[in-house]
Amino acid sequence: MHWFVVVVIIIAVIYALSKIPFIKRLIKYYHERFIAQRVANYAKKHIHGIKEINDKTCKLFESMESVIDKVGGPILDLGCGSGGNVSYYPSNAKIWTIDLNTQFHSYLKESMKSSKATLEKHQVGNAEEMQEIFKDNTFSCVVCTKLLCCVDQEKTLREIMRVLKPGGRFYFLEHIIEKPWTFTRYFQILYTPLWKRIICGCQLHKDTDRVLKDFGFDNFQFEYWQRPLPSSFFFARRSCIGYGDKPVM
Ligand SMILES: C[S@@+](CC[C@H](N)C(=O)[O-])C[C@H]1O[C@@H](n2cnc3c(N)ncnc32)[C@H](O)[C@@H]1O
Repeated sequence: MHWFVVVVIIIAVIYALSKIPFIKRLIKYYHERFIAQRVANYAKKHIHGIKEINDKTCKLFESMESVIDKVGGPILDLGCGSGGNVSYYPSNAKIWTIDLNTQFHSYLKESMKSSKATLEKHQVGNAEEMQEIFKDNTFSCVVCTKLLCCVDQEKTLREIMRVLKPGGRFYFLEHIIEKPWTFTRYFQILYTPLWKRIICGCQLHKDTDRVLKDFGFDNFQFEYWQRPLPSSFFFARRSCIGYGDKPVM
């Protein structure tokens, strides 16, 4: 009983401290730093060496060079993280990036060393609300990989349509909910409340495939893909990959 009271008091004190603005900022800073480090190290150690993932990602972006030449303008990497995509971009790409986490910039700059493209601008901000940051019809291409699991998808897709130039291309690679009646699907549903608190709001059970198919892109190319991730990430394997263009009125 005595220990129970002590534990309750400690939890109450931690809770009260976490409401003080300075402590709140400190917790946010260290949490973001921890996440940035984990995401960057995980990608470097476990994903970048997988040939099938490299080949598929190269193929996804193979039209980018000609789209940039045709439409003109920089490309936007939404939720860029540590810059997992930048080594795939062509040399004519002028990259603008945005991410909610304040701690990714140094990892992004490090990834740029293996890129042929140029990083022009990095912005900390919310992909759901970019009205104050990017004007309408700015980008030749927008890239979204493993971001739509973290955001309000309708809002973000509306923003993507707004900032893309007509005829500009939206590239995506997103993990999605597993097929019905599978163990992984139930795991995703049960694990998400904890997982999203740890990893950037990521929800494992989103039906992003349906939302993308219904959004009204032109020249829509879509494929389901079982990403060959390590077994510890079996719950994020089912994915969809492809692109679509903003209609020219
Ligand atoms: C799983 S990581 C993917 C990083 C990168 N796109 C990749 O494929 O390697 C998701 C990223 O989205 C960012 N993010 C989450 N919610 C966001 C939001 N509302 N606006 C902008 N970025 C966001 C996270 O900080 C994180 O960097």
